[in-house]
Amino acid sequence: MRVFTTVEDLKNHIKNKSEITSEIGFVPTMGALHEGHMSLVYKCLVENSLVVVSIFVNPTQFDNLDDLDKYPRALDSDIELLKKKSKNIIVFAPSAKNLYKGDPKSIHYDFGGLENEMEGKFRVGHFNGVGTVLKLLFEAVNPNRVYLGEKDFQQLQIVKKMVEIEKFPIEVVGCEIYREAHGLAYSSRNERLTKLQRSEAKLIFETLSRVKNEFGTKSVVELNEMVSQVFESHELLKLEYFEIANVENLKTAKHIDISKKYRAFIAVFADKVRLIDNIALN
Ligand code: PAJ
Repeated sequence: MRVFTTVEDLKNHIKNKSEITSEIGFVPTMGALHEGHMSLVYKCLVENSLVVVSIFVNPTQFDNLDDLDKYPRALDSDIELLKKKSKNIIVFAPSAKNLYKGDPKSIHYDFGGLENEMEGKFRVGHFNGVGTVLKLLFEAVNPNRVYLGEKDFQQLQIVKKMVEIEKFPIEVVGCEIYREAHGLAYSSRNERLTKLQRSEAKLIFETLSRVKNEFGTKSVVELNEMVSQVFESHELLKLEYFEIANVENLKTAKHIDISKKYRAFIAVFADKVRLIDNIALN
């Protein structure tokens, strides 16, 4: 298993490798790997001859220094986990100074308004940080395909836009949300939940599933109302936002046009832990 910590070493290694292989698949992560991340790695291994997984906690995408500080870091156990799956995986774990060639700074992107919806309203500057780090990582890895989870659906759409803006010849592959047995989407943040919070958090997916079942029979207003009521008096889970949005532009739907595709998006707090999830509705 090869682990590289500088852009220069990674590039040199990949240059030699790409003479014998043309299919480079890339899974960018911030580490503390769980089954959700691994589902992307499995798909990437099946579809590519060379797989690169990056592990980098990106400072420019955090709007809150405390969140950056508390973000779990587990490089050694992450490497062990990946090694168990395949010794051929290349791990890229650079320092911020090396990746950003100095002090980390964000590029200011215009993602055509995608950045102003949902997560963008609550996490100022977040998507500029995501766009910037992925640009730097794509330049270092030079992949044919990049694998991203639908768990962060807005991020997925924004990365597709960034690839278009920067004219990267990269296919962006969206991967299904991988869930714990009771439905909670895997997330590094789940580790910060108490046992009770974690079991109660199944309500998030239960509610999204209910919305999916009732989509088409109830209006958007009625569905919003139903979700508010579910969380209104809940002792442990506080609703931050719930929205039904158009998949293409992520704009909030006021009424449904059956020729368009929609998803329901939710953000919930369990004490200080923020959990997000979403579901395809049609
Ligand atoms: P991170 O939160 O580590 O997630 C890395 C990738 O794993 C993302 O594409 C995310 O959508 C996916 N993922 C996480 N949980 C998942 C689940 N339960 N099912 C399916 N996919 C899941 O997202 C980031 O890191 C960063 O923003 C990054 C893209 C690496 C840029 O810094």
